Amino acid sequence: SKGTYEFYMLKEICEQPTVLHHLAQTYLDQAGTPQVDPKITTGLSRADRIYIFAAGTSYHAGLVGKEIIEELTEIPTEVAFASEAGYHFPILSQHPFFIFLSQSGETADSRVVLQEAIKRKIPCLTLTNVPNSTLAREANYAMSLEAGPEIAVASTKAYIAQITVEAILAKAVGEKLAKKRAKDFLLKENLALAAEGIEQVLSTQDKIAQLAQKYLVSSRNAFYIGRGIDYPVALEAALKLKEVSYIQTEGFAAAELKHGTISLIEPGTPVIALINDPLTADLMRGNIQEVIARGAKVITIASQSLAKANDDIVLTNLNYYLSPLISVVAAQLFAYYTSKIKGLDVDKPRNLAKSVTVE
Ligand code: M6R
Repeated sequence: SKGTYEFYMLKEICEQPTVLHHLAQTYLDQAGTPQVDPKITTGLSRADRIYIFAAGTSYHAGLVGKEIIEELTEIPTEVAFASEAGYHFPILSQHPFFIFLSQSGETADSRVVLQEAIKRKIPCLTLTNVPNSTLAREANYAMSLEAGPEIAVASTKAYIAQITVEAILAKAVGEKLAKKRAKDFLLKENLALAAEGIEQVLSTQDKIAQLAQKYLVSSRNAFYIGRGIDYPVALEAALKLKEVSYIQTEGFAAAELKHGTISLIEPGTPVIALINDPLTADLMRGNIQEVIARGAKVITIASQSLAKANDDIVLTNLNYYLSPLISVVAAQLFAYYTSKIKGLDVDKPRNLAKSVTVE
């Protein structure tokens, strides 16, 4: 039940610290070593390329997962929309390994790819929140996302669970391949920090609601911008906002704006900037100035170590690759409050169902 929450979406956003603790307990031992079925770790460690298939928010979790998997295992990783890959199958490496990401485990688009993969005898792993779902049963291997039932149509806690399980897998496989970066990756510590960081974002809800009221609620369009790992987060943040608030929102790799889309920026256009990548933080500040010069109203979400005095939302410092676990929560709350203030049915946006079982 929703308990004291007005909507499931907010309840599920607030459950995220618990989800991270639970995943750490389920998949990491006391010393922080991943506890994953050795058949899965061995299968992945033998792959010369990993292919991730998903849709919507799960696809966005795949884009973040690619970064983590490549960093910790050095295995090249591709991410594709299941709906596209099903009919335009990717050219495969010699030893491919497929990962399917799906909260529901029932997405028809993903099932088409899985069926073809089974025919071709490609090893397949499903990460899903519904252990007995179709995609879990039909794949060779399955791992549970352990996020608990997700009722709101907008996916929140399943996204951070997917990123976390991808990180657990990446560390397990990287350690098996004796990669130093995998050994040095302090996953357990960072998950504990992420849980605290999410609590801290949750404590800024009033401020987020005020900013939503001031800049988003009466706007027709909006942008999220980010570089590095903030780019896939910008895509997810934009999907969240448009899905529940009906404000047309685009997620952009920040520097790409000036290659065309900046012409859409008008006085008052809201631009939400994510600043969590130390390598590009200064460049982000430049990109922010470019849109301010065209009249944009900018909201900034920055890691503490990169933050400036006027930033709106300051996030707990975390390993760069895991920073989406915290930054996305601010975006989830912007989406939630914008929808709620507009008086919309936050949990059941128009035209949408929780799982998409048609192609
Ligand atoms: O159950 P799945 O993860 O396979 O669903 C994929 C998408 O349909 C889903 O993530 C959708 O984009 C959400 N409504 C986004 O909030």
